[in-house]
Amino acid sequence: MKELRIPQVFIGSATSLPFPDAHFDVVLTDPPYYDNVNYSALSDFFYVWLKRTVGDLYPELFATPLTPKSEEIVADPNRQGGRDEAKRFFEEKITQAFREIHRVLKPEGIAVIVFAHKTTQAWEAIIQALLNAGLYMTASWPVHTEMGARLNAQETASLASSIYMVCRKRVTDEVGDYSRVKEELERVLPERLAELWRQGISGADFSMAAIGPAVEVFGRYERVERLSGEPVSVEELLGLARRIAAEFALRRILKHGQLAGVDNATQFYLLWRWNYGRGLVPYDEARKLALSVGVDLELLSRQGLIKKNGSYLRLLGPQDRRFAGKVVPENLVDALQLAASYWGQGKEQELEELLASLTCPLETFWRVAQAVADRLPDGDKERQLLHGLLGRRDRARLQQRLPYER
Ligand SMILES: C[S@@+](CC[C@H](N)C(=O)[O-])C[C@H]1O[C@@H](n2cnc3c(N)ncnc32)[C@H](O)[C@@H]1O
Repeated sequence: MKELRIPQVFIGSATSLPFPDAHFDVVLTDPPYYDNVNYSALSDFFYVWLKRTVGDLYPELFATPLTPKSEEIVADPNRQGGRDEAKRFFEEKITQAFREIHRVLKPEGIAVIVFAHKTTQAWEAIIQALLNAGLYMTASWPVHTEMGARLNAQETASLASSIYMVCRKRVTDEVGDYSRVKEELERVLPERLAELWRQGISGADFSMAAIGPAVEVFGRYERVERLSGEPVSVEELLGLARRIAAEFALRRILKHGQLAGVDNATQFYLLWRWNYGRGLVPYDEARKLALSVGVDLELLSRQGLIKKNGSYLRLLGPQDRRFAGKVVPENLVDALQLAASYWGQGKEQELEELLASLTCPLETFWRVAQAVADRLPDGDKERQLLHGLLGRRDRARLQQRLPYER
């Protein structure tokens, strides 16, 4: 008969584990998600009452007046004195914790690390920490874990899933050649993305789930270098993966439509709505989205498509934009929003002229309109305007058919 082991619970910091080297077959952890929740501050609310009521039964758990803060792994600009400092602190501490996992894991052991975050900054930090700690990812699984109605799901775009990263101790110190890694990413990633797509993962969850397969490719190496010997950063490698994922997603969002007639600003618009709906997006996140499709945020801001809102950006809809005087659209998204605005105001004549003057194929125009409308929630003004426009197209098509075709 197998020996029955009684589970044991220890209290302490993940940055210094009370276990010998090469002790565990598996380590499974749900570490802090960058800046998402300041657990120690949250815990203080309960701690003060628990200390008074059951504190004497567990004196070692209630030794301090409030919960300990200094070892808490969280990116908190207020506590650490700025955003860059917060990123550095988180990366250092989570690397220490991952090094401890590496130390206590048997050579053939497995570490499962759960992570979820909608910003690439947080992902860069966690992936860099994994690699620094000598762990590499052999598989990754998106698992539906979050509730849509939770507090921070409301104004900014939120995620429905977390990624379970299955990691092992890296055994080689091989250096990856950038051109080969790039070629492998371009070959392997679309196959894995197709799998995620088939599973029905979409929007920000899809973009996040795409990170795993990319890290499975480049994380095998101790580091990746160009021919010149210059190292390639995790930020750049994830940027490349994002470009591949963006192109893949755009083709699917447009129902296998051609990207050729869809200019970069419109690709940006589509991806934004697909990833974040009407949510506010942190500036840096928007910048990376812009990079993935080759547009300049400043230019989009001058053209009136995006607007600053504190440290966040908002992508405007046709109802938010002022199209004054005779407007010549700069790109497809402008044309689409102008058309929706004309439709909303009942400006039939202007709408006809605009549709007749389009330089892109009409089919592309309608595919973009449909894709954006599908992504917005019921009751949304932009969705209503786009649906109105699409309804007008359907009626016009019906009228063009011969009576026996109707
Ligand atoms: C994402 S939460 C895990 C939540 C947990 N899976 C649950 O369902 O309750 C991350 C946890 O890591 C804890 N944490 C932060 N820094 C730590 C450290 N240095 N050592 C151990 N735990 C830490 C936080 O207090 C928080 O409870």
